[in-house]
Amino acid sequence: MPLIRLQLPIDPDPLPQEVADWIAEGMRAVQAFQDIWDRRPIEQFVAADYELVYRAMRGICQAGYLTGNRFGEWGCGFGVIAGLAASLGFDAIGIEAEHRLLSEARKLQQSWPHRADLYEGNFLPTHAEQLATTDDLPSLAHDQLPVYGRIDLDVDDFAMIYAYPWPGEEEMFLESVFEHYAANGALLLLYHGSYDLRLWRKVGGNLKRKKNRVGL
Ligand SMILES: C[S@@+](CC[C@H](N)C(=O)[O-])C[C@H]1O[C@@H](n2cnc3c(N)ncnc32)[C@H](O)[C@@H]1O
Repeated sequence: MPLIRLQLPIDPDPLPQEVADWIAEGMRAVQAFQDIWDRRPIEQFVAADYELVYRAMRGICQAGYLTGNRFGEWGCGFGVIAGLAASLGFDAIGIEAEHRLLSEARKLQQSWPHRADLYEGNFLPTHAEQLATTDDLPSLAHDQLPVYGRIDLDVDDFAMIYAYPWPGEEEMFLESVFEHYAANGALLLLYHGSYDLRLWRKVGGNLKRKKNRVGL
């Protein structure tokens, strides 16, 4: 079976103050963006529960689940989670198709010392749309080129990928893309809504340990 679901370790410790401040700043920025936006809304942009995702990522680091150090956020929006991953020691990359969201992410990162690399483009690799069972999925609606050629990386270079599928996204599509393109041993962390975070590992074949394990 190529994807197995792992028990999600949620770290219960208090948040570092800088993390709590950054999450608060990210939430303020999202709120301000939504409040003043008076043109076409970006498909009901919604942000995840940043604190929960941070606790999960920290738990994953501590549990020794990782096979490498590279983290990708598929559809990074304001880039808060990519920034949190960078603060945990990941080599973090955020990919976002919406120019306006990525500009907000870049602005926000100016006040954060743990930089993630943010790229405008499509997180879906070439031909990934063929894995969809319907062509009206929100993540297929972007016409940007896949970002991977430009950044000289492939999906299988990431030890962990995080995504929050758009509301309305078919539940299994991102899992299928990950299952098809990710490296053996890589992790997929999906936020499906409040208190619904799911962690998957791709298995099968040799599990390669890449680079150093993330340390806290
Ligand atoms: C529900 S929001 C999640 C934002 C952020 N990751 C979070 O967890 O708060 C989904 C994001 O994915 C982006 N997105 C959707 N499909 C995409 C694609 N094919 N390539 C790049 N970004 C995409 C959207 O523009 C949106 O910012």
